[in-house]
Parts: sequence; C-alpha cells; structure tokens
Amino acid sequence: MSELNAAITAVGSYLPDYVLTNKELETMVDTNDEWITTRTGIKQRHILKGEGKGTSFMAIKAAEDLIAKSGLNPEEIDMVIVASATPDMPVAATATYVASEIGAVNAFSYDLQAACSSFLYGMSTAAAYIQSGRYKKVLLIGADKMSSIIDYTDRTTCIIFGDGAGAVLFEPNEEGLGLQDEYLRSDGVGREFLKIEAGGSIMPASEETVKNKKHYVFQDGKNVFKYAVSNMADVSARIMERNDLTKDDVQWLVPHQANKRIIDATARRMGVDDDKVMINIHKYGNTTSATLPLLLADYEKQLKKGDNLIFAAFGGGFTWGSIYLKWAYNA
Ligand code: UT7
Repeated sequence: MSELNAAITAVGSYLPDYVLTNKELETMVDTNDEWITTRTGIKQRHILKGEGKGTSFMAIKAAEDLIAKSGLNPEEIDMVIVASATPDMPVAATATYVASEIGAVNAFSYDLQAACSSFLYGMSTAAAYIQSGRYKKVLLIGADKMSSIIDYTDRTTCIIFGDGAGAVLFEPNEEGLGLQDEYLRSDGVGREFLKIEAGGSIMPASEETVKNKKHYVFQDGKNVFKYAVSNMADVSARIMERNDLTKDDVQWLVPHQANKRIIDATARRMGVDDDKVMINIHKYGNTTSATLPLLLADYEKQLKKGDNLIFAAFGGGFTWGSIYLKWAYNA
C-alpha cells in the first residue's frame, strides 16, 4: 500500500419515507412475518414512491446530508462516484447528474456497478484515486432503488430488498488512518444465479421480455446463500490474518446485509462478538449498494478515531471482498 492513506472523513444518508412492513407483504404474496424474520432477519424496508424519482433522487439527498453535516464546499469535490445496480438510465451516468445537482461543478464523475459489492469496490476505487496523490476529495455514494427491479408477485425476492442511499467522503490522511488493506474477488460462475436477464446487449428489451418478466431480478437464493456464506467469511478471516488482527483488535465488522444468517456466520468465523457487528437489515432489508454507507451513518456516533473496521460484502456476479479501514474521526 502507498504511504499516503485515504480516510473517510464524513458520512451522509437518506431513506425514503414509505415503510413496507412484513405485515403489508403478507397481503401481497404468500408469505408471513415469522418466515421472513427467521430466514432473513428483515422486519421492514423503505421504498421510494413518486413518479419520475430514480436512484439519483436518493443519491442527491444523501450527498446533501453529508454536505450539510460536514460543511463541505461542493466546489472542492474532485470526483463523484455513484455505486449502484439501479442507475437512473442504462446510458448517461447517474453520477454525472448527481454531481451537477449538488454543485460539484469542478468534479468528474461516473457510475460503478458490481451488484451488492458496488460500494465495497467503490471504496477501493475512491481510495486509490486519493492514494495516487492526484485528487483530494472523492465523494463515494452508494444508492439503489431496488424496488424498480423487483417483481412484487415473487415472494423469493420481494421480501428481501429495500431502497436507500448513503455517501462518504474520502480525503488524504497522513496519520496512518483510513484504508489499510483490501482483498477483492470475483467469479463469473455467479452470473446464472443472480441476474436481470433482459435489457442488456444479450437480450434487448422487447414485448416478449416484458411479458415474461425478464426485467426483474432473478435469484437462485439457495445457491447464492451457499457461496455468500463461505466466501464472505473467508475473505474477512483472511484480511484479519494477513494484518495480524485478533478478534480483540477489531472494533467493528461492517457486513453487507443480505441475510442475518450470512452476517452471523461471518462474525463467528472471525470470532467477533455480536455487539461489534453493525446491523440494519431489520430496518432496511438489503439495500444493495447503500447498505455499507447506511451502516456507517447509523453507527457514526459510536465510532472512535483509530477504531479498526472490517468491511465485507458479497453480491451478484459473483463479486465479493473485504476491506480493513482505520476510522479517522470522532463524531
Ligand atoms: O445480496 C446479494 C446476495 N444475496 C444473498 O446473499 C441472498 C442469499 N440467499 C438467501 O438469503 C436465502 O436463500 C433466501 C432468504 C433468499 C431464501 O431463504 P432459504 O432459507 O434459502 O429458503 P429456500 O429458498 O430454501 O426456501 C425454503 C422454503 C421453500 O418451501 P419448500 O420448498 O421447503 O416447501 C420456499 O418455497 O421456503 C419457501 N419460501 C417462502 N416461504 C414463505 C421461499 N420464499 C418464501 C417466503 N415466504 N417469502
């Protein structure tokens, strides 16, 4: 790793007002609160309602929250990355619109997509730009309007996902704080297990694809679970090992929130106690790219300068990995 560190120096978040509870889902599909709670840990999720509102709406709100809290001058932002699996449109980057709307007039911007690992990979990308020495302020936003790609008649997927957005600012740090190490992986074997089949270059949109519901998320949950549970635990244990971290050295596990059982398995493998594991799946469900920054926003007040955080994620593709980061400020 380079001498110049990249630290997170501010956090912001946004959740849409509408709350979709397990109870309401019981009226929509053949499911029940008990099944959802015991199998996933989810009690409710937020849904973005309103004509014409896309992922950028939430990304802008999260960025504005960060700007208001930190006093950041948007004109000083060098770069805006929007990590998302649900961009506003297939072409015309969401990040570009977001940057203009928040007044980041001196920034360049683009989107980054790696399903549920989008934000984790985005952390690596943002940190690398800072460590290169070329940029001083990189705004990384994780935002997803999952409700736009979910079939609310399919009980295997509609109970899981929610909408939301979170933002972090990366800046140089000369005290040794910030991103310390990363271990990122991918394997194309996952493409068949978690996908949206149509709307891309292989199967462009047509009357048939719409009729056959090919524009919605398909997930072979059992197989994804199998890969997720072992791989997320593996990378988290490995990053601890290669940085000589014992369970007592880790203050927080910041895990992707796809299923409480996957989170528990990762924590057990690391030997980390439950009170060190950040959890928001019960409130938000799986918010894909927004999950990790929403955790940081929820736990920000409890974080202390110098805390060792282990981030871990697993997502479609497959994509997965772990990042070791030293927290850089007291809230
Ligand atoms: O974030 C990106 C990566 N994604 C993940 O990591 C998700 C990984 N997968 C999972 O979290 C889990 O596989 C799910 C939560 C999606 C499903 O849980 P599961 O324990 O793997 O359930 P299953 O698919 O094995 O289904 C068990 C039973 C089946 O009934 P039978 O065949 O045993 O009679 C399903 O039909 O549960 C049934 N079922 C439901 N029942 C009530 C499936 N979905 C539901 C539901 N409500 N919503």
